[in-house]
Amino acid sequence: MQPRERLIFPLDVPNKTEAERFISLLKDHVGLFKVGLELFVAEGPAFLQFLTETARVDYFLDLKFHDIPATVTSAQAKIMQGAKLATVHVDQGRKMLQAAVASLKNRVKVLGVTVLTHLGPDDLEALGIASRYAKDPSQLVLLRARLAQAAGCDGVVCAGMEARAVKAACGPEFLVVCPAIRPAWAAVPGDDQQRVMTPYEAIKAGADYIVVGRPIRLAADPVAAARKVVAEIEQGMRDRSSLA
Ligand code: C5P
Repeated sequence: MQPRERLIFPLDVPNKTEAERFISLLKDHVGLFKVGLELFVAEGPAFLQFLTETARVDYFLDLKFHDIPATVTSAQAKIMQGAKLATVHVDQGRKMLQAAVASLKNRVKVLGVTVLTHLGPDDLEALGIASRYAKDPSQLVLLRARLAQAAGCDGVVCAGMEARAVKAACGPEFLVVCPAIRPAWAAVPGDDQQRVMTPYEAIKAGADYIVVGRPIRLAADPVAAARKVVAEIEQGMRDRSSLA
């Protein structure tokens, strides 16, 4: 895998016009575009068709499904060719994860969302999560990664600082996708992410893919920012293999 292929750029923009602008700017500099709730709600499945048939780019459909097994199965069945990765929340339990995996079998890789990176110990405690997990979110991530793997998921979404432990627990083939990536050179105004890491650190810790949004999208020169991230990925890969 080329370093660039490990970079996922989220199309967190309000409409297709804005999305097209970033796709043409970044097409040769990132591996996958991620379609999340904002754009999907605005543009619907027609936008996914546009990605595959007109823009001819692969995408990660990040709708983070969180519902009963029957509903998730029906929704997943409509996910189109062209999607390489899709997400479901692990906290809806084994049956839902198994249903999600079965409905996408051999078409799309399914990732379990473990614990979103805007949540810290206080938030988890307030949500009723047992204090041994709330105090140490990495333990909750590991518990959920094991559950996702047992249910047949191809990998998980977690913070960079949890990547190494997930790889150690679930094995090298189990995909680790890390958002909340903050290069040392990028400041994000009013940042909502906690549990952050740089691209270099996350890759070195074992992430297969990193999701980098605002540090690229808000940069004066998004292409230059994407290139800098790819250079960090390359360095992280080098240092990771020299440690192996
Ligand atoms: O880099 P930035 O914070 O802008 O990236 C935001 C993107 O990362 C959003 O698309 C969000 O859905 C995604 N994300 C995620 N899982 C998290 C945190 C953020 O998929 N735990």
